Amino acid sequence: MNDGWIDEDDLKEQKVDLRLWKTLLRYTLHYRRTAITFVFVAFALAASDLGFPLLTGLLIKDIETDPASVNLSFYAIVFGLLSVSLSASIWGFVICAGRIRTSVSHDIRLDAFQKLQQLSFNFYDTRSTGWLMARLTSDCQRLSIILAWGVMDLIWGTTVMSGITVVMLVYNWKIALAVLAVVPFLFGVSMYFKKRILRTSRLVRKTNSRITGVYNEGIMGVQTTKVFVREEENLQDFDRLTMEMYEHSVRNAMLSAVYLPLVLTIGSVAIAAALVVGGHQVILGSIAIGEMVMFMYFAQLFFTPAQEISAWFAELQMAQASAERVLSLIDSVPEVKDTDAVVARVQETGSDGHPDEIGQIEFHNVEFRYRDGPQIIGNFSLLVQPGETVALVGATGGGKSTIVNLLCRFYEPTAGQILLNGIDYTDRSLHWLQSNLGIVLQQPHLFSGTIADNIRYGNLSASQAEIEESAAFAGAHDFITSLDKGYDTEVGEGGNQLSLGQKQLVSFARAVLKRPKLLVMDEATSSIDTETEQLIQQSLLRILEDRTSFVIAHRLSTIKAADRIVVIDKGEIQEQGTHQELLKRKGQYYELYTQQAVRDLEILDVSSETETDSALVEQQTKE
Ligand SMILES: Nc1ncnc2c1ncn2[C@@H]1O[C@H](COP(=O)(O)OP(=O)(O)OP(=O)(O)O)[C@@H](O)[C@H]1O
Ligand SMILES: [Mg+2]
Repeated sequence: MNDGWIDEDDLKEQKVDLRLWKTLLRYTLHYRRTAITFVFVAFALAASDLGFPLLTGLLIKDIETDPASVNLSFYAIVFGLLSVSLSASIWGFVICAGRIRTSVSHDIRLDAFQKLQQLSFNFYDTRSTGWLMARLTSDCQRLSIILAWGVMDLIWGTTVMSGITVVMLVYNWKIALAVLAVVPFLFGVSMYFKKRILRTSRLVRKTNSRITGVYNEGIMGVQTTKVFVREEENLQDFDRLTMEMYEHSVRNAMLSAVYLPLVLTIGSVAIAAALVVGGHQVILGSIAIGEMVMFMYFAQLFFTPAQEISAWFAELQMAQASAERVLSLIDSVPEVKDTDAVVARVQETGSDGHPDEIGQIEFHNVEFRYRDGPQIIGNFSLLVQPGETVALVGATGGGKSTIVNLLCRFYEPTAGQILLNGIDYTDRSLHWLQSNLGIVLQQPHLFSGTIADNIRYGNLSASQAEIEESAAFAGAHDFITSLDKGYDTEVGEGGNQLSLGQKQLVSFARAVLKRPKLLVMDEATSSIDTETEQLIQQSLLRILEDRTSFVIAHRLSTIKAADRIVVIDKGEIQEQGTHQELLKRKGQYYELYTQQAVRDLEILDVSSETETDSALVEQQTKE
């Protein structure tokens, strides 16, 4: 599923950054008991591995020197015990590695997900959903495999190899050196091929997922393809992709085909070295045949760990990019977060130390730019009284959504202050502000589940009656009850089974249920038909009555009743006042309003406006 998210970086090899891996190793070491058990298991496994050649060597030596006094049953028992110890340690090995792998994978994902929930919007502005999904799935999976199996194999492999090396050197350094001389070649060849095999198999997976994607598009877009008579071109594209897949697969198979025999040959050279040097010493009479056999056995034992370790080194180099990305995610610091002073106060007293009410809201010389972008809001000052309804209107891209984003503290001003009840809002806790906040957006997000679940999101302890009451308030009750399953209708992923207008109504009901002190509506009713909108207007007035609200709307008829209308252009306030005041001023608002009224008249060809409005329209048409 996640194969499509292989980045270009995953196909490159990078230098292994030990500091990075050391940081990640804390995930493995967190399971101290399992890790310690594992070290014992790894030693036991290495000792059993070493035991077999030693025992074989001793047995042959005993038979050679005095066949009559050899205690065969003793050897049989020790062999049996060694086999039991080997099986038991392999069992322990798999269990420990499996346990650590599952736990590490769970922990990395949890940390990453938790971080995703804390990070501010700034972070999301620069990263696509696909990128983030890949970090949470394929990268986490790859890392957890390395941090469990890789680490375990490294411990076991180095123990076995150093054990063999020490025993060989102690027994007979000449044969030992002959055998060890082959090891660097074994490592070199293994690393070389493993890296290439890994890269081609990733390319195969990547191409494969692209093919799946093309299949998918082909099926989904079949109507468009037919209408535009694109079948031939699509087929050619598809053909090119399958050829690419074929080439990568063949290359992968070729590499594997060369690799295994080559490693086996190098291994045989090590055994041959033990045979030649050892045999020579047997002929000279300086060692027994048993020792020579033991060394041949040792040479063979080197294979598996040497191959495993080099494979893991190759994987480390290839997974370096994943490690960097996951760590960069886990270690990122949210740009908008509680200050240390606030955190300390909340820990001590359970609150941020200020009264609960929101009170007056003041934007004081606020300036804002997104990251390194141009200034979006400049010298913005606005004082809003408790309970006031402020409408923000103005041309597209003027900065209206940015202003409410700042108010909700999704971003913080780059200069100036936003004061709530006279207190700079950065001195208050984010939790306090956001739990007093209700937001309805133009593109509302619903979660998969039923309509009732989605409304309940505003207040998890709400009863069914309260949910229905809020829905009725928001003008959503009628459409919900007209559905077959009513409130139990599944909305699908992201609410896709509802129309945009229906989603807006549900999210409206969700905000109503939360009974926030501060309500923000950004184009909340833009996709709702005029009839339903008029229905909502009534409840809207009641909702807005006793709470401070910010309403953004392009359709000016929806905000006529606001206490104050603020016209925003290029991040600055152009004019403000009530609907009537602004009409009298004949400024920007007057222009906008009359233009819209004319358009509505042309489209609907009916006049639903008030008398003054009709008069204005007439006047404008003459002009
Ligand atoms: N996340 C972002 N990163 C960078 N620039 C942004 C971002 N969001 C908005 N902008 C820029 O900020 C400016 C103001 O955008 P904003 O969304 O506040 O306008 P708006 O008044 O709400 O427009 P509309 O009426 O179309 O919703 C635009 O020029 C836009 O390109
Ligand atoms: Mg906007």
